[in-house]
Amino acid sequence: MPSVVNSHNEWDPLEEVIVGRVEGAAVPPFDVAVKANTYPRYWDFFERHGGEPFPEELVRAAAADLDELCTVLKGEGVTVRRPEVVDWSRRYETPDFASSGLYGAMPRDFMMVVGNEIIEAPMAWRSRFFEYRAYRELIKDYFQRGARWTAAPKPTMGDELYDADYPIDAVEERHALAAEGRFCTTEFEPCFDAADFTRMGRDIFVQRSQVTNRFGIEWMRRHLGDAYRLQVLRFEDPNPMHMDATFVPIGPGRVLVNPERPCLDLELFRRSGWEILTPPDSLIPADHPLYMSSRWLSMNVLMIDERRVLVEKHEEPTARMFEQLGIRPIRVGFRNFNSFGGSFHCATCDVRRRGELETYFDHGDPA
Ligand code: ALA
Repeated sequence: MPSVVNSHNEWDPLEEVIVGRVEGAAVPPFDVAVKANTYPRYWDFFERHGGEPFPEELVRAAAADLDELCTVLKGEGVTVRRPEVVDWSRRYETPDFASSGLYGAMPRDFMMVVGNEIIEAPMAWRSRFFEYRAYRELIKDYFQRGARWTAAPKPTMGDELYDADYPIDAVEERHALAAEGRFCTTEFEPCFDAADFTRMGRDIFVQRSQVTNRFGIEWMRRHLGDAYRLQVLRFEDPNPMHMDATFVPIGPGRVLVNPERPCLDLELFRRSGWEILTPPDSLIPADHPLYMSSRWLSMNVLMIDERRVLVEKHEEPTARMFEQLGIRPIRVGFRNFNSFGGSFHCATCDVRRRGELETYFDHGDPA
């Protein structure tokens, strides 16, 4: 009997997926970790509204986009599950910090499925400390139905986790530090977001980012054990947070690489005969609000299988690229949701894809 939770990569035929919920979303309190991953044009918005619910009209429009996504996924034969609605504007205090929440809109950030195991990420933003509360009903159900369930060590998120000397306002300096692998989180304790990982069978890739530290990567490496190779990829990116608008596999042997964030570690992919594809620029209008992401959400696609992909309906050049690759783009309007920091890949977490654990790389191992 195949397990109810089973997913090894980003492209096997999708059978069941969690789609996030934006209801109850709150503006995160504006601290150094939020500042490191948002753009100056929105800093005033965060300063003024941190801790308040997100404006209602934005939430309503984004929730409608998510509903449409669910309808499309069901139409393609995929079972859709949703997390709980939570009021994320509620304040909380732990022995180490006080904050309020963010949202349950991006299951990809919070949980990762590796085979039949669900791994809850520790996260690194204080506003995401309690994000697990949106998903626990779902995860308990999957556990009752046979899944394995792991919650990575909870960080304290005390002041020691954040580098007080990180040059938060100096973009040039941040470039230089990124090249040295220094970001706003320290190595005080493990932290990671699940979206900094991408799964390609027995090879899983990860980036050191503003929210994923080396300690967290090492925790994951030991946790995954010998059945997997966890490899760190480096990118020219002063603001890394989540790999899924940077380096996006779309099938066994094909990966999209963001041209503004060149990958410094492509050798294994080249040696293994992978096609390294440059996606077209995004068509998100310059004045479209993007509170928590870059415009590269156009490449944050979800593969339904190797021949079908969800593409934002305005992103015609991206849709055409897929057509030329023999992949059918399914166009879904998602601009309102994009304002919350993600697109189809961020907004989902694949629970079950029909497929086996395989190797897609030539490691030059002795025969
Ligand atoms: N954090 C990712 C980006 O902004 C989604 O590109």
